Amino acid sequence: MTLKKFAVTFALGSMALLTAGATVSTAQSHVNSPDPLLGTPSVATETSNIDGITGHAESGKHLYRRFCIGCHGPDGNGQGMNAQWIDPKPRDFTEATFKCRSTPTGTLPTDEDLYNAITRGFVTTNMPSWRPLNPQQRADLVAFIKTWSPRWAKEKPGASLNIPPETAITIESILHGRELFQKLECWKCHGPEGHADGPSASTLTDSKGNPILPFNFSTGERFMCGDSNRDLYRIFMTGLDGSPMPSFADVIQPNDAWDLVHFLRTLQVALPNQELTLWQTYKAAHGKDLKPIGPDSAGGAQ
Ligand code: HEC
Ligand code: HEC
Repeated sequence: MTLKKFAVTFALGSMALLTAGATVSTAQSHVNSPDPLLGTPSVATETSNIDGITGHAESGKHLYRRFCIGCHGPDGNGQGMNAQWIDPKPRDFTEATFKCRSTPTGTLPTDEDLYNAITRGFVTTNMPSWRPLNPQQRADLVAFIKTWSPRWAKEKPGASLNIPPETAITIESILHGRELFQKLECWKCHGPEGHADGPSASTLTDSKGNPILPFNFSTGERFMCGDSNRDLYRIFMTGLDGSPMPSFADVIQPNDAWDLVHFLRTLQVALPNQELTLWQTYKAAHGKDLKPIGPDSAGGAQ
């Protein structure tokens, strides 16, 4: 037998093995049917709808068992075998509390929100990007994730935040955003320069009691929940549920929110951007007139 032929024979042999494995798993036709590796989901079955694609929990179950179980666990509660080594901890799907949502705080995310989170992954954490899986597979995973919490059978996702068109990037807009950063006390956690070193930064814990740090704007890292100006707008308007990062939708007017977006970009000193360039030019001329952000500044709470 030539080496090449051997390789082909060997490959076919392992395919046969894989196929045998697949036959065993497809024998379970419902998500809530006994599965040797998975606990019993809370909802018998679920679908998802993402941009014309319908996801099915049954197909998602097989993908979950292969790719997600090690972190999110056989019971979907975030206690997979690898969870003990990971910080922040994998999401507990039985609570249906999610960080990256277009929907109001406390409500369920849309299918698209979950799909986007799975696609994007969570930079700076162990949650990988699942872009290598095709759109149908990612939609199937969304459907399956929803079977872990009874909330999906009882509640509807909240209404997606309406984001008005972006306003012009001007120095007035940035300066107003800076006032909001002071007044709304973003600096108490994120720090006056966005270095994650505000007075509250070291005291924060997530909803599971694990220590958590605010986002550091100066390092050049991407935001977990998307990186466009629209994503940034949505992040602080809806908040990151399960983390101390609150929702500001009730206190910030829609156009004011764009001013805050423009100011936050100036804190991203490691990522060249239009807002930063404008701000640096302004600061070179007027920097000495600017009151530093922090407890002593006018507009601060106390
Ligand atoms: C190596 C570990 C790991 C693997 C494997 C993994 N995840 Fe995660 N996942 C995480 C961590 C950690 C978080 C929480 C990150 C955070 O809270 O900042 C997370 C969060 C999530 C979230 C929450 C999104 C939100 O907005 O809150 C979803 C959904 C998710 N993962 C889906 C999946 C799916 C689907 C798979 C398999 C295809 C998967 N994960 C595989 C570690 C993992
Ligand atoms: C009580 C503390 C606290 C306050 C106040 C706060 N944040 Fe946060 N913020 C956090 C924490 C903690 C995180 C990181 C959450 C995580 O890693 O899951 C965060 C994350 C963020 C992120 C990054 C989200 C991502 O997708 O990576 C942005 C942007 C942000 N905050 C903006 C703001 C703005 C703007 C304000 C004020 C209007 C504000 N924050 C006020 C604690 C706070």
